Amino acid sequence: MNSSEIKNKFIELFESEPIIVKAPGRINLIGEHTDYNDGFVLPAAINKNIYFAVQKNNLNQIRLFAENLNDSLNISIDKIEKNSKEWANYLLGSYLEIVKAGFDVQGFDCVFGGDIPLGAGLSSSAAIECGLIFGLNELYQLNISNLQIAKLAQKAENNFVGVKCGIMDQFAIVHGEESKVIRLDCRTLEYTSHSFDLKNYIPILINTNVKHSLASSEYNTRRKECEAGVEIIQKYVPNVSSLRDITLNDIEKLKKYFDPIIYKRCTFVIEENQRVNQFCEDLNKNDLLRIGELIYESHKGLRDKYEVSCKELDILVDEAMNMDCILGSRMMGGGFGGCTLNLVKRDSVDIFKENISKIYTNKTNIKPDFYTVEITKGLEIIN
Ligand code: GLA
Repeated sequence: MNSSEIKNKFIELFESEPIIVKAPGRINLIGEHTDYNDGFVLPAAINKNIYFAVQKNNLNQIRLFAENLNDSLNISIDKIEKNSKEWANYLLGSYLEIVKAGFDVQGFDCVFGGDIPLGAGLSSSAAIECGLIFGLNELYQLNISNLQIAKLAQKAENNFVGVKCGIMDQFAIVHGEESKVIRLDCRTLEYTSHSFDLKNYIPILINTNVKHSLASSEYNTRRKECEAGVEIIQKYVPNVSSLRDITLNDIEKLKKYFDPIIYKRCTFVIEENQRVNQFCEDLNKNDLLRIGELIYESHKGLRDKYEVSCKELDILVDEAMNMDCILGSRMMGGGFGGCTLNLVKRDSVDIFKENISKIYTNKTNIKPDFYTVEITKGLEIIN
């Protein structure tokens, strides 16, 4: 699905000239489940996109068409509530957050679709939310800043869709820069961008093509477990407001007060934050081997301590680890399915894909998909 197909569909359905928005998906090099703990992440926008054709309609109606699903919804702007069509909730929730923030936005028409695989952990939902807000911002000249767009999109996900996600996905989609990864401090929202050049290696995503139904409920549970950990720490260490404020040494001393599961979750987050900072240092030093080790360590923590991996993701990582054309491999995003991120030697990509594909299909009966990642600019209006 490309932008001209989306535009043509819009003209066919609504007989007016739309603006076109491109909203990319994202990868995250390292720093998983750290964003809602005030920690550090290292994401980038990628060459998988959702395109939007949007225009005002001078009606009291929002008229939506999801090209990939061939499904539509018309709804009056004063009667918006959660819909049984799940895809529509990302858009309706985003519209409501703009209105709640005090902006005057009336009826509009929207056709959207693209090539970000759904449920693959590449943030198709955040792309839908950010893309619509960006489009309406442009149409209604609302002057909403990029950071505010990311925050409104996150609120739509938290309040309307019901996943208590952090800010990483939306931030990366809004601020993405070509060939750069973003080191974001999720507490202050200050960020720096770093050139991402792995010499002979390139990032390849492998889609398990599974998404276990646990994903969103377990996500919210992890968040609560981290909050429970912070509450325990606060009783003994003053001025701690998140896991960001505490070291492994500190928490080790408090171990006896912890439920073992909460303890595991918290130590994972503290270690993962350290890995982000180490990764950036190693990137600057060009220490690719160390970067690969950090990626494997991150997967191990996500699997054993944070317990958000699944059989299919583990198979992909274990098999990748057996091949010598690869620096590192790990599950990416919230977990329970979706993609692994792999840093693979450029000249061995074909053989890597062939081997992994054979073994994965043998073991799971599922065919994996492979995506070669290019790091791109974030949200933009295109012609
Ligand atoms: C999802 C969420 C993000 C982040 C990741 C895990 O992608 O939307 O906010 O928490 O999971 O790192």
